[in-house]
Amino acid sequence: DGATLDDLVIRDTNEVSLRVMNDHELYKLEMERIFAKTWLLLGHDTEIPKAGDFIVRDMGEDQVIVTRDRNNEIHVNLNVCPHRGMKVCTAETGNAQAHRCIYHGWAFRPDGSFIGAPVEKEKMHGNQREKSELGLKKARVRLYGGLIFATWNINGPSFDDFLGDMKFYLDQLFCRTDSGLEMLGPPQRFVLPCNWKIPGEQSGSDGFHTLTLHRSLMEGGIMGGTAESIYDNAPGMYGVDVSVPQGHSLRCLEAAQTFKMFADVSFEGKTTEERLNLLPPPGVTKDLIPQLFKNLSKEQVEQLATIPPQVGGMFPNILLAFIFAPRTDGGSSGALALHTYVPKGPDKVEFVNFIFAEKDAPEQVKRDMLQNAIQQTGTSGIIEQDDADTWPQIMRNSRGAISKTMTLKYQALHGHERPDNWYGEGLLYPGFTKDDTQWNWWLAYYDLMAEA
Ligand code: FES
Repeated sequence: DGATLDDLVIRDTNEVSLRVMNDHELYKLEMERIFAKTWLLLGHDTEIPKAGDFIVRDMGEDQVIVTRDRNNEIHVNLNVCPHRGMKVCTAETGNAQAHRCIYHGWAFRPDGSFIGAPVEKEKMHGNQREKSELGLKKARVRLYGGLIFATWNINGPSFDDFLGDMKFYLDQLFCRTDSGLEMLGPPQRFVLPCNWKIPGEQSGSDGFHTLTLHRSLMEGGIMGGTAESIYDNAPGMYGVDVSVPQGHSLRCLEAAQTFKMFADVSFEGKTTEERLNLLPPPGVTKDLIPQLFKNLSKEQVEQLATIPPQVGGMFPNILLAFIFAPRTDGGSSGALALHTYVPKGPDKVEFVNFIFAEKDAPEQVKRDMLQNAIQQTGTSGIIEQDDADTWPQIMRNSRGAISKTMTLKYQALHGHERPDNWYGEGLLYPGFTKDDTQWNWWLAYYDLMAEA
């Protein structure tokens, strides 16, 4: 309707027009300028352990086949047959040494290369192009801690540039043990009637909503505080928020405070190892602790033992949730989950819930972590149900003639400030969680959308 990007993301006054959530033209541009350009999370390599294994996932509205070939290499191929545009793979997951299109039978290897068409003697693969020109379109792939990322931007920023200063923190979660993470079962998926940016923006480390929307966590004692004094006494709200210009962010919460939510034990005078033993990262059992020292720098382990990353997001559509639980025996549970919010049109999003444990953790710990993640961050979990009720109501408001003229106010912006004794880089926001990291999410959105 003639609005410019500057009318939608209003940088002078730190506002965002509610129209941004319900605009069909804008959505088309987002598919081109964000989802066809940036790195996107598709899954984990433990989902496809054997040669020929595949999963079908989405990069925005573009569907892809994620495969493992005989050389153990992972490929991401567009699920569009170059013959007449049919889906090449109609299954969601499986194992195949060749993917045959059901329309006319063209076949492709797991690496996307063209094998041939039926009726070879009549040269039905055609006489106009070499076979080498008839493969599936391939995305650029990068594995990080087993997580499969891909982008269509073949000559664009490297994955390391995409991660930026966030790597120091994310390594503590994804690259800390010798064997790494394992995904527990297929992801849970459900579709919500809202624009992808509503959960996307919240993933920019909106800790504030936890106090009110997820009040039941406080009332139940899960986040500390009491029903009477939730707003003034919620230790889980304090820490350091970290943000980077790429739009990623994390909330790092003090382990000692987090521990107090569960029991009255002090970290005072304890060594790094002793603190890790008391409140281990989710899924890190006692015998995995030495591996933390081996795979991470001294500074990374120290952070993990004192003020570890616990929740956050990666631009454009990833939520990270790491739920700590004190050790009660030799094991450790908690939960480790990632969500992606996959756009399915301007007013629909698919919520995909990936659940993890350390590959070398005992089976019982894996079972506990799966159960915890389902109970807390799953489709019927005690946390996400609150959000799944709220996001569609914001969406509904974006349709009203008057409502859509409203703006979202990012006003608790107190600026970044480096705390003492802090090892990592990035924009740092110590204290109570604020709006800065979500506003940075919108600035990253603006930058990508402004690029032609
Ligand atoms: Fe795939 Fe014709 S559309 S073989």
